[in-house]
Amino acid sequence: MDVINRLIRDGSLTKEEYVELLGYAGDIGAVKLLKEEAVRLRRKYYGDDVYLRGLIEFTNYCRNNCYYCGIRGENAKAQRYRLAKDEILSCCAEGHRLGFRTFVLQGGEDPYYTDDRMEEIVHAIKTAYPNCALTLSIGERTYESYQRFRLAGADRYLLRHETANEEHYRRLHPSSMSLTVRKRCLYDLKALGYQVGAGFMVGSPGQTKETLAEDLVFLKELNPEMVGIGPFIPHHDTVFADEPAGSVDLTLFLLSVVRILLPKVLLPATTALGTLDENGREKGLLAGANVVMPNLSPVGKRKQYELYDNKICTGEEAAEGLEELKRRIEAAGCRAVSARGDYCKSS
Ligand code: 5AD
Repeated sequence: MDVINRLIRDGSLTKEEYVELLGYAGDIGAVKLLKEEAVRLRRKYYGDDVYLRGLIEFTNYCRNNCYYCGIRGENAKAQRYRLAKDEILSCCAEGHRLGFRTFVLQGGEDPYYTDDRMEEIVHAIKTAYPNCALTLSIGERTYESYQRFRLAGADRYLLRHETANEEHYRRLHPSSMSLTVRKRCLYDLKALGYQVGAGFMVGSPGQTKETLAEDLVFLKELNPEMVGIGPFIPHHDTVFADEPAGSVDLTLFLLSVVRILLPKVLLPATTALGTLDENGREKGLLAGANVVMPNLSPVGKRKQYELYDNKICTGEEAAEGLEELKRRIEAAGCRAVSARGDYCKSS
């Protein structure tokens, strides 16, 4: 248990120590200790507040072919859709009415959304809702593109690094993609003043304690404002259709560890966690998470944004189920707040 006390004391470990730490993922005493410290830190910086983000999945076209993802470009069975600017703005209007003060525009890497089109969308949203934060999650672009979106008003950017280990990265992605580019994008986004989110799936094929340890070393070094962690869930039309799903318990363990590494991080209890476990989101909050991202996409399109099988999209994780979601957040000892929920800058 030495390594756990060291993590709690120093807020970071070496790669070898993370590997040792991960050996405690099934140890009830260790899990409890990490959870308590994670919740203490979350409370210290954010009180009991849980921030709500309205997620708008605006396109499922994608030029990439990530082996794990249901909307990868080569999946001919995916029914593709994209939303027009006015449709995106209607989602925002509904979200604003429901109390959301952050909108997250997420999509595949869809060439239709050129820099000009994206800039126009960002500008329109920020003009209509100047008091709201806008998060983009649209993959890898050039520094110049990121700069244009930032100048147009985008505040935050989510781009999971997926894995910080080169070999593992190649196991999950075709050779057209590279970890070097991925990391460069993340550092570009930081340099431009975005609040940046990195992250990874838990239990993706080829993941080991060593690759996870590298993820933790990388996260500490990047020092992102947000970290997205959810279990891998197979999708039937992908290369990994027959691979087992990731573990809910290991995901919860890692949420606690990340809260301790990056005490002020904005940490979502993800949809994937809620998909694998009916109470996954509450458990995530109790492990140190402080963000949930209900789905604001047009109801008729939600099923089509199918990153993995059985992705939940109509229950309390949907914007219409907000009251139920709020009750669940309260049951976890927290409070859903209607605020932008920016990264905490005070010490
Ligand atoms: N299971 C879980 N998460 C997935 N993602 C993509 N495919 C899957 C899957 N099969 C995650 C990736 C991506 C984010 C938008 O969704 O980590 O970055």
